[in-house]
Formats: sequence, structure tokens, C-alpha cells
Amino acid sequence: MASRVIIGSQWGDEGKGKTIDIYAQKSDVVVRSQGGNNAGHTVEADGEVYKLHLIPSGILNPQTLCIIGPGVVIDPKVILEEIDSLEERGITTKNLKIDPRAHVIMPYHIVLDGLSEEARGKTDIGTTKRGIGPCYMDKSERSGIRICDLINKDLFVEKAKQNLQIKNKIITRIYDAEPISDTFIEEYLGYAERLRHYVADTTYLVYNSIKEGKDVLFEGAQGTLLDLSIGTYPYVTSSYPISGGVCIGAGIGPTMIDECIGIAKAYTTRVGKGPFPTELFDEIGETIRVKGNEYGTTTGRPRRCGWLDVVILKFSVRTSGLTSLVLNKLDTMSGLKTLKICIGYDKNGEIITEFPASLEELALCKPVYEELPGFDEDITKIRNYEDLPQNAKNYVERIEELCDVKISMIGVGPGRDQNILR
Ligand code: GDP
Ligand code: IMO
Ligand code: MG
Repeated sequence: MASRVIIGSQWGDEGKGKTIDIYAQKSDVVVRSQGGNNAGHTVEADGEVYKLHLIPSGILNPQTLCIIGPGVVIDPKVILEEIDSLEERGITTKNLKIDPRAHVIMPYHIVLDGLSEEARGKTDIGTTKRGIGPCYMDKSERSGIRICDLINKDLFVEKAKQNLQIKNKIITRIYDAEPISDTFIEEYLGYAERLRHYVADTTYLVYNSIKEGKDVLFEGAQGTLLDLSIGTYPYVTSSYPISGGVCIGAGIGPTMIDECIGIAKAYTTRVGKGPFPTELFDEIGETIRVKGNEYGTTTGRPRRCGWLDVVILKFSVRTSGLTSLVLNKLDTMSGLKTLKICIGYDKNGEIITEFPASLEELALCKPVYEELPGFDEDITKIRNYEDLPQNAKNYVERIEELCDVKISMIGVGPGRDQNILR
């Protein structure tokens, strides 16, 4: 029995949902601790595809307690739609618990997300426009509305009206846009009635579960380089996807975590704007996009694709204290003649191996590649490591060596069973 943190170790979409579903089958509790419906986690099970944005990917297991912790921002409309869509498909949500401290995404957050992106013009971040940033801004400013406020009718009406007045001043006077009417308040009171019975102190539930020796899984969202504190700022999200964020977002102490597992793709992708040293603008990038079906789960935007970057993976290992890595989508690499791994950056003739903080410095960096021969075989039906083509094994083992961390699982397809355990 253990408590495990699973995080994305690149720019998100590493296949966390799929890996979490696999671990969740033997976990008692699955916890989301940060982010909101900017996340899109795909689980393919028994021929069905589920795209989850707020509800933990453990929900497909009826016995698993699924928790949305204090650090998550919740759009009540979206979570209710997700609940309804799961229930319609025969998936029970009776084991879902939402922490009263989680913040609520309000309609003005969504409007402000769009307006601030528009105002940035060419320097926009490329957010998911789900109101995530503005909601976390209110949380930091201490004017946010929490789930415990939402289910307290009089308090909610008072806070919502007060906030709306201020937001409308910003919307009309700063952005020169149309004000928002207060009709959403009634709508939100309806959501509150439906959400009320899911609300529970999840910090207590998580603590007790760990104390009782249960298997607890923390489902990361986004990825290391989207982290507000250590990512490619300002092209980041507004929360903390690294393993340390779990403590803050779930309300547990670091001593309660046994393992930190990083999820990586066998290559690199990114949606939204911002630097990406190994990005491919050629045929190979397009081949990976098409073969890997690299289109955003939340926004449908084409994902930018590039070679695997070990500078990034090592940064993830270091900043999240990763105890192992999962390498997904190795099957997508089949058919490529040569596999390139970025092992450092050439910065005006100087070779650097640590990910720079400054984007101006990063812009000067050209990837330095190590090249390995590729493989042609279809590996989607392989389940034993030994059966992989030698060149695929060489690729995996070289990554392991460069990152100095064990690759414990390899994904060879989107299905629940398409994994190689090592
Ligand atoms: P997440 O945000 O990290 O949960 O990842 P997404 O669900 O947004 O994107 C990952 C995509 O890759 C999904 O469509 C998954 O079904 C798919 N996927 C995950 N692992 C594998 C794998 O090993 N091989 C292939 N071909 N697809 C995978
Ligand atoms: P999962 O959990 C990939 C990106 C957005 C944008 C930046 C800021 O599926 O891996 P935001 O709406 O959060 O303010 O947008 O962060 N982003 C993600 N990219 N996967 C995600 O989640 C993401 N969540 C946010 O594209 O660049
Ligand atoms: Mg995703």
C-alpha cells in the first residue's frame, strides 16, 4: 500500500489519464489537487473513450473514492455536465467528493480570460479560455468564491453581486467590453443544490486513507513546464503541477508521499504558445501529429510536436523528485528512420544541460541531439519488454540512462491494456 503522485513531466498531455486509470484499478482513492477544466485526461477502456476534465480518472472503478481537493478550481456547470455524461454511460459518481475550499470559476472569470488574451494581442499565452487564470487570481487576491460559499445561498448571492460589480468595472472601463448581467447567480444557485451532497472535507479523507494504509493516487494535471513557479513563465498555467503542488492542493504533508511518478511521451508536445526548443516544423513533426493524434483533448487545437528533450525530463526528475518515469506513446515512434534525443542546448557555442529560467536565454538555445536508429515494427500488441524491437529497447534504455531514473512502464497504445510493465 502506498501513496503515489503522478505528474506530467513535459507540457501536459503526456497520457496521465491513461496511466492513472491503470494505477487506479488497484487504488482506493484518486485525488485531483490542482488545475481545473483546462485539463483533458483521456481514458480508453473496454472500447469506450472517456475525456475527463475535472473528475479524477479513477471514476471508472466504482469502488474508488474520487476526490477533488482544495487546490482545484471548479466550473460548476462543467462538473455537472461531466457527472451527467458519466452517469448516462453507466458510470457511477456516488464516490465523488469535492472539498469545500475549492474555488469556483464564475462566468466573469471566463469572460476576463478571453479579454485579457485579446488585449495581449500577439503576446497572448494561448490559454484554454476556461477562466482558470482569473479564478486563481481572485484566490490569491482573497476575493474568490469557494464551494463552501456557493452552497451557502445568502453568502453566495452577496459575494457574487459584490464581485460582479468590480469585474464589470474592469470589463467595461479597462477592456471596453459589454458588462455581464447578474442572471447567472440564479443559475449557480441551482448548481449549488446539485453539488451540495458531494461536498466533504477531503483533506481529512485523504489523511485518514493514508493513515489506514490505503492505496492513494494523486492525479497530476498539466505538466512541469506549465508550472507557475518553475515553468516557462509567462507561458504557464496559474497553478502548480509539480509534485510539491500536491501537498498544497490536497492539504497533505510531504512526508505522506511514498512515490512520485513522472509521465512522459516518447517525444514532446505543447499546446498554446511559448518556447519549445525541439519543436519540429517539418514532415516528421506532421507525421508525429497525425500518427499520435496530437490534437488537444480540451480545446481540439493541434499540438505542436518535437523530439524528446532530456534536458526537460531531467529538470522534471529534479524538481519533482521523481522516483520513476512512464514513457507513453512509444508506438507513435515506429516508422521513423532515426530517433533523436535532445541531450543539451548550444547557447552561442556554450553547451548547457540545465533548463534556463530566462526565455531570452532559452531563445538562443539550439538543441544538441544524439541520434539512434529507429524501428519499423508495429509494437501495439507487444506486452513483454523482451519482445520489443532491439532499437526500441535501445531508445528506452538510453533515456533511462540519461535521466538516471527507472522507466517503469511503457505505453504502446491508448488502451488500458496497451502497456509494458518492467
Ligand atoms: P493527459 O492530459 O496527460 O491525460 O493526456 P491526454 O489524454 O490529453 O492526451 C494523451 C493522448 O494520448 C490521449 O488521446 C490518449 O488516449 C493517448 N495515449 C496515451 N498513452 C498512449 C500510448 O501509449 N500510445 C498511444 N498511441 N496513445 C496513447
Ligand atoms: P492536461 O492535464 C496541455 C496550457 C494551455 C496554455 C497554458 C495556460 O490535459 O495535461 P490555462 O487555460 O491553464 O490558463 O492555459 O497552459 N494547458 C495545458 N496544456 N495540457 C493541459 O492539461 C493543459 N492545461 C493548460 O494550453 O498554453
Ligand atoms: Mg490532456
